[in-house]
Amino acid sequence: MEVLDAIRKRYSVRGYTDEKLTQKEIEALLTAGLQAPTATNRQDIHFTVLDGSSQVVQEIEAEKNGGKTAPINFYYNAPTVIILSAEEGFGWSEVDAGIAVENISLAAEGMGLGSLIIGCIKGALNGPKKDYFAEKLAFPKGYEFKIAIAVGHKDAVKEPHSYSFEKSVSII
Ligand SMILES: Cc1cc2nc3c(=O)[nH]c(=O)nc-3n(C[C@H](O)[C@H](O)[C@H](O)COP(=O)(O)O)c2cc1C
Repeated sequence: MEVLDAIRKRYSVRGYTDEKLTQKEIEALLTAGLQAPTATNRQDIHFTVLDGSSQVVQEIEAEKNGGKTAPINFYYNAPTVIILSAEEGFGWSEVDAGIAVENISLAAEGMGLGSLIIGCIKGALNGPKKDYFAEKLAFPKGYEFKIAIAVGHKDAVKEPHSYSFEKSVSII
């Protein structure tokens, strides 16, 4: 699929089939993340790959909900969740993580998979249990959660979002 087609067709997928990703698919997604540009080519992003059914994913869900039950979990039952972490305090790490996660998202679309970028677990991962989760998720020393992405086979359809050139663009 051409890049512009993948950009045009991608949407946030909030429903997945039970089908697991293959090792080859996971490696292709990670390669797309690793090929993303980073400030001064620092290559500062760390990628933690989790099975959606893993215990730590359930712990993150429970921490996010703070004892309450949510109608649907944060990863919409996707078979794979990738957590992106980067060094705390480095000024470009969030931009770097954002670019990497979008590379993964577009790669997923190009591979016929669906994805959902996930920020709603930031409080859970960077809150009181920050050190606990950093260890569980194998973050390098001094790293913290930046963004996550769920990936799997689509089981929900949505139109790509609408947008306005007039509102968002100034050509001077
Ligand atoms: C930084 C960031 C964080 C996001 N966090 C979540 C999230 O936690 N849960 C969720 O369902 N969607 C999340 N999204 C997806 C957005 O809601 C979605 O991209 C937006 O509504 C536009 O829809 P589209 O992706 O289908 O074009 C996030 C997107 C971004 C870029």
